[in-house]
Amino acid sequence: MLLRSATPPLPPGPRGPATLTTLRLIERPYETLRGWRARYGEVFTVRTLVFGTGVYVADLDEIKGMFTGDQSTLRAGEANAPLGPILGDRSVLLLDGPEHLRQRRLLLPPFGGSAVRTFREVIREVAAAEIDRWRVGETFRMRERMRGLTFEVIVRAVFGVTEPARVERLRAALVSVIDSQFVLLVPGALRRELGGHGPWGAFQRRRRAADELLYEEIDRRREAPDLEERTDVLSLLMRARDEDGERMSDAELRDELMTMLLAGHETTATSLAFAFDHLIREPQVVSRLRDEAEGEDDSYLDAVVTETLRIRPVIDAPERTLTEPREVSGWTLPAGIRVYPSIVLVHQREDLYPEPERFRPERFLDGPAESYSWLPFGGGIRRCIGAALAQAEMAEVIRAVVSRVELEPVRPEPDPVVVRGITMVPRHGTEVRVARVLT
Ligand code: HEM
Repeated sequence: MLLRSATPPLPPGPRGPATLTTLRLIERPYETLRGWRARYGEVFTVRTLVFGTGVYVADLDEIKGMFTGDQSTLRAGEANAPLGPILGDRSVLLLDGPEHLRQRRLLLPPFGGSAVRTFREVIREVAAAEIDRWRVGETFRMRERMRGLTFEVIVRAVFGVTEPARVERLRAALVSVIDSQFVLLVPGALRRELGGHGPWGAFQRRRRAADELLYEEIDRRREAPDLEERTDVLSLLMRARDEDGERMSDAELRDELMTMLLAGHETTATSLAFAFDHLIREPQVVSRLRDEAEGEDDSYLDAVVTETLRIRPVIDAPERTLTEPREVSGWTLPAGIRVYPSIVLVHQREDLYPEPERFRPERFLDGPAESYSWLPFGGGIRRCIGAALAQAEMAEVIRAVVSRVELEPVRPEPDPVVVRGITMVPRHGTEVRVARVLT
């Protein structure tokens, strides 16, 4: 008699120790993922150190199925729970089900079309001030400069804080919290305050200091005489009401400000660093951008942004945890398993993007990217809330840089992609030299 195993088998995948698999994925994500797909097909199981067992999915129809229709059996918030001490437990990133939808419905309108026009003005100002500081012959890591810039855009456009002294106070306090992400690896039992000493105590102290500033901004805004006319995201959120007519509480506002900062500034800065890693090696793309910068038509500029996000998405696999068994490409995946729609593998498909490793903005000139074959912002009810802001920011910063300065690469080879934290980044942060100032 045949013995039936209690749980159906998972799709095959790399069998080496989790340490080795994790290292390969971190140090050479593109080669590793492509190699696994070539060997195991469109669905494969991977065991990694921190995240355990998960199933990667590269099949377009299956990914579309995960991002459309009823997604109530796919949880995303759970996977972000380790970020709780920074984001707070009311963050849209951490919630699932109706609570998630409530936050999402409140957060989406402030990022709509008319808001993006206002964002563009802020971005142009911040970019101009940043580029003014660049000197001929100077060498720097683009990712670091862009991080300063995207931070400022969020604080001004999303938080609505513009006085330079307040922006700097927030920068010092918030960056110190975000940069202590490593303490999230401290196991629960060792999370003791110890009078503010030790890594956990120091983290809590920094977080309280940052929270104090955030609550101060919320209080000031409530008192602001122009609250009703303001267009920054915080003011819009303070005026918004949910379906039951309820406003967001101060604690919810605090958690969402922190979430938008964490989700929105490094991702955009890294995407810009990737854009420049290509642009410094593609003079013909830059000269076309310069030619078109004079006119009204932004289609080539937008295609450069779209192609950057295709060839170098900063997040590979937005995770979903199954709450019920699910059929995926002929496999029955059990409840509790993590599933990763692989953005990299979709964006690297030869049939969708011929010569996928070539940076060719022209491929997007004939029309917008198709929703389920271009996924840098994930999809479905978890699709990135800041996608329009991020793309506008990338376009405005690229426009400002190419029309004001000429940059050259410091290293001859393109910067290799590595995984750091949950994002993919250029290993050396895209080092550039300012060759010429044009205006
Ligand atoms: C190029 C820059 C950015 C990239 C590549 C990016 C990418 C992503 C991805 C892949 C997700 C997960 C989607 C999913 O699970 O299906 C996400 C979610 C999110 N992003 Fe972004 N993002 C960027 C910029 C921003 C900005 C500027 C903001 C806000 C100011 C933002 C706010 C969020 C929020 C709040 C979520 C959670 C949505 C939810 O769970 O419902 N992101 N982003």
